Amino acid sequence: MNNQTPTINIFEKAARKAGKNLIRDFGEIENLQIESKSIGDFVTNADLNAEKAIYETLKYYYPDTSYYMEEKGLIEGNKNEMIVIDPLDGTTNFIHGIPIFGVVIAKIVNNDVTDGIIFNPITNEFYWASKGMGAWCNNNRLRVSKRQNFIECVIGSGIPHHKRAYEGFLDEINQISKECSGLRRLGSAALDLAYVASGKLDAYWEKNLNLWDVAAGVLLVREAGGKITEPSGKIWSTKSKDILASNTNIHEKLQKLLEIKK
Ligand code: IPD
Ligand code: CA
Ligand code: CA
Repeated sequence: MNNQTPTINIFEKAARKAGKNLIRDFGEIENLQIESKSIGDFVTNADLNAEKAIYETLKYYYPDTSYYMEEKGLIEGNKNEMIVIDPLDGTTNFIHGIPIFGVVIAKIVNNDVTDGIIFNPITNEFYWASKGMGAWCNNNRLRVSKRQNFIECVIGSGIPHHKRAYEGFLDEINQISKECSGLRRLGSAALDLAYVASGKLDAYWEKNLNLWDVAAGVLLVREAGGKITEPSGKIWSTKSKDILASNTNIHEKLQKLLEIKK
């Protein structure tokens, strides 16, 4: 059954175009031009070509919307409606030949995420959610996991590097790894959230992210029955930098563990 909304159909068209370019470039990594924005923060011609393909497809359908793109920045249009684009989430994985990355597109209306997609062109997993319509991967409805017992849970996170490192992140990892089944660092914040929505990860937290990394994933997790806040428990908003996503059952426990500093 394919009950995708018209918005998701358009996002899919854009993401699949970008995905074709990414698959081609991934097969020729040795020819990639790689620039460093800062230590450990790279942009390649693959990011730029993918973003161009997405923007050119979307602006035909949504000429008046504002766009907020990782590489091109903000293009102002209608103040109440914004499309946020991360053409390649997981650039470091991509450069290293690790096939965990995705194209991310989200629509935000009056600061509320209404539609989002995350597409991994390597696995052909097309994750999508529209507000009130559920979360999906291809034709399968997604639900967060049901695990309640923390010790059985597998939890995703990001490991900050260089200037993104913050005091206490090792304490956070220490606190949580002692109590759960395992930690994972996938290297794509968007896919981390898609995995929480799919019940593959039971929860995920990370700090110092951008809206394009998480907007689509936030909606996926919510529509799959999960919970999103900041790690402190504060309400997540489109201005938030830090995120905690879970299957709801273990949210409070995780919040407490993240609060404890040694
Ligand atoms: C990065 C990935 C990574 C996260 C970084 C992000 P990029 O996005 O989502 O998992 O830990 O903080 O910047 O740079 O590959 O688009
Ligand atoms: Ca990103
Ligand atoms: Ca990116």
